[in-house]
Amino acid sequence: MSKIRLGVNIDHVATVRNARGENYPSPLRASLFAQKSGADSVTIHLREDRRHINDSDLKKIRSKLKIPLNLEIAATDKMLKIALKSRPPFICIVPEKRQEITTEGGLNLNFRKNNLKMMIKKLKQKGLRVSLFIEPNLKDINTSKKLNADCVEIHTGKFCNLVNKNKKYSQEIKKIQSAVTLGNKLGLEVHAGHGLTYRSAKILSKISGIKEFNIGHFLVGESIFVGLGKTIKEFKKIIK
Ligand code: PXP
Repeated sequence: MSKIRLGVNIDHVATVRNARGENYPSPLRASLFAQKSGADSVTIHLREDRRHINDSDLKKIRSKLKIPLNLEIAATDKMLKIALKSRPPFICIVPEKRQEITTEGGLNLNFRKNNLKMMIKKLKQKGLRVSLFIEPNLKDINTSKKLNADCVEIHTGKFCNLVNKNKKYSQEIKKIQSAVTLGNKLGLEVHAGHGLTYRSAKILSKISGIKEFNIGHFLVGESIFVGLGKTIKEFKKIIK
């Protein structure tokens, strides 16, 4: 068992399926394959516009998966209702804009703060683990604690972009490390995700205190060449 858990995001299996309006490749099959290959959890993002994962995927994966399902949702009443009905063990609340290609930044924790607090409370009352997807800054870590989240997931997009472009990333790593340290100190479980590749995951895994990585786009892309099983095993080796 690796020290850092690997959450495998399979949204883009659904993206490929939806590109042709077919019923394959199957996100359920990918989830079960990820489970068999050593993933510690499977992540899906049920977007408002259902551009990749849809309600039927959620239902099927929820009923068949034995490892925890991590459902990413926007902070809306509609998504809360779905989450409370399907009750996946892990919930990650993320910002969502219709026009964006991917989740472009962390949550604005000051927007409808009381609503967010109530949402977290309701999810936790049902025994679900609640994480907030935030930027690596100390203010958001403190606010996450005040909102009573169980975990935070640090948005690693900026750091990953710098790594990919061979630019200096030491400042960004420092920001992430400070956020992780404060999160741990406050008793929050700290996760990381967005844009991670073999290279950036390897660098980030050296930071102490991160408990879980959630990785999707690169992982699904790499699977085209070497297969989902091999890619998951390689990530597990890198982050352990
Ligand atoms: N974590 C969260 C909260 C996300 O929203 C996403 C992307 O949707 C990821 C992790 C995975 O990012 P990527 O697909 O770039 O690996």
